[in-house]
Amino acid sequence: QATEALKSIARRQDLKAHVERTPALNGLLRRAAARYVAGATREEGIEAARRLLAKGYAVSLEYIGENTTDAAECEAAAGEMAALVGELGELGITARVSFDLSHIGLAADDGLAYEQLLRLTRHARELGIEPFVSMEESAKTGRILDVYKRAAISDSGIGITLQAHLNRTPGDLAGLEGIGGPIRIVKGAYQEPAEVAIGRSEALNERYLQLVEAALAQGRRVSVATHDEALIEAVIARGWASHGVEFELLYGIRPDLAGKLKASGYPVRVYVTYGEEWYLYLCHRIAEFPPNLYRALADVVGE
Ligand code: FDA
Repeated sequence: QATEALKSIARRQDLKAHVERTPALNGLLRRAAARYVAGATREEGIEAARRLLAKGYAVSLEYIGENTTDAAECEAAAGEMAALVGELGELGITARVSFDLSHIGLAADDGLAYEQLLRLTRHARELGIEPFVSMEESAKTGRILDVYKRAAISDSGIGITLQAHLNRTPGDLAGLEGIGGPIRIVKGAYQEPAEVAIGRSEALNERYLQLVEAALAQGRRVSVATHDEALIEAVIARGWASHGVEFELLYGIRPDLAGKLKASGYPVRVYVTYGEEWYLYLCHRIAEFPPNLYRALADVVGE
């Protein structure tokens, strides 16, 4: 409940407007968000990516946003992503660009999401950028997979994220046999009804490992996107880390672990976010790991 409460606070437009109108509050929250978000602008996102690349990490970039219902705003979001892709290409930066389909059309109309996805992925592929679809709440999973499959059926360069906590996911992965490209496996960030998902548990970690194994058996590159050290150890113990698996962690979360894995010679990717919706993203990170609230307060008072 606390998780959903925080996420709904994040979505409240009146609170967001209040934060935007109140410079002191805006400044404090921005300082707290800086740990998890590279900045409000594309330049700041790219700058953070360059710093990470220089240290030997691979990078993903996301322009933050979701559930955009207005068609013009969807076009604008896709336009920003296209500009990001173009700039990365111009700078010769190899990166993955991730996005929510509901940010570029799915919340308005599946056809719009499909067209935008196709346009964006063609542009990205021409410039050597890897397009990657994020996964959203279970009410949208089927539609996201349908749109993804339509676009990926003839392009093995488009990646997709699957959530281990959903009971449907092993079947969804089997249904992707022969379609599309790399798979990112996450535990799942959304609070879901008990009938459709399992919570954080040994059983979830077991299923996560089975999904990694099944995706590798399909001949795919797999991103093990988690900060769970035990799970990462289990992937390493099975010898998968040198066979098509990379580790992917969110910017600002367990940088110590990312550094340790890199120093041990494993491929590590860091997922960098930027955008004016940094406030939404900060609330999400606190919601999924409440001790981050104390960290945010410490960041604000400059500890
Ligand atoms: P778990 O939640 O069990 O946490 C394990 C440990 O990691 C914690 O005990 C803590 O030490 C640390 N940790 C986890 N979260 C933390 C946080 N916020 N702050 C500080 N420490 C934290 N989800 C989704 O539904 N759709 C998607 O498309 C994506 N995409 C995505 C990409 C990448 C690269 C990553 C790493 C994650 C996602 N996620 C996601 C989020 C994912 O589903 C999940 O919510 C988070 O990764 C947290 O789960 P863990 O696997 O880390 O394990």
